[in-house]
Amino acid sequence: MLRTAVLVSGGGTNLQAILDAKAAGKIPHAEIALVIASNGRAYALERAAKAGVPGIVVHKEKGEAIEAYGERLLAVLRENRIGLCVLAGFLTILPENVIRAYDHRILNIHPSLIPSFCGKGFYGLKVHEAALERGVKVTGATVHFVNEIPDGGGIIAQKAVAVLPGDTPEILQRRVMEEAEWVLLPAAVEETARKIENPEL
Ligand code: GRF
Repeated sequence: MLRTAVLVSGGGTNLQAILDAKAAGKIPHAEIALVIASNGRAYALERAAKAGVPGIVVHKEKGEAIEAYGERLLAVLRENRIGLCVLAGFLTILPENVIRAYDHRILNIHPSLIPSFCGKGFYGLKVHEAALERGVKVTGATVHFVNEIPDGGGIIAQKAVAVLPGDTPEILQRRVMEEAEWVLLPAAVEETARKIENPEL
């Protein structure tokens, strides 16, 4: 199995979806070996502990050079023999030295149908506020590879979600998480791990 690290910053509902899918035998090609939180307050660390997955905080220090932070992150990934990284609500911009070291081995879940409502400044509730502001009738979520362009890597999977009359950003965010993010991400982890382990397929 491919040793996989899930990088988190907040509540960890996407992490939980991955952990639940793993427990249900739906991710046979990946071992969820480590959870890396960008801050010690992330409830996602509680979820990891409950699932018996080691958790660690790797926080970018104020004023720390982005490359130095990247080197610290890479050291943790290498020490833990990580072959696949999954950004699940991770809010720190990944340094280029990490992206280069893990080319086509970093996944991200974004809460819109890329290329809509993505890129710099589009994260969390802001994405859904922009979708409601624009008046789209359909939104959704995207799993994509991470490259040096924010939300710019190759698209792996997408799932559409209806925008309903009366939706607030919070209601829409919850529907997108339930109907799209938590479905797409575990499946994308399995598919990507399977392809990395069986390149001939
Ligand atoms: C969600 O809005 C998700 O779309 C984005 O990060 C937010 C928090 O996710 N990727 P989680 O509950 O921490 O997984």
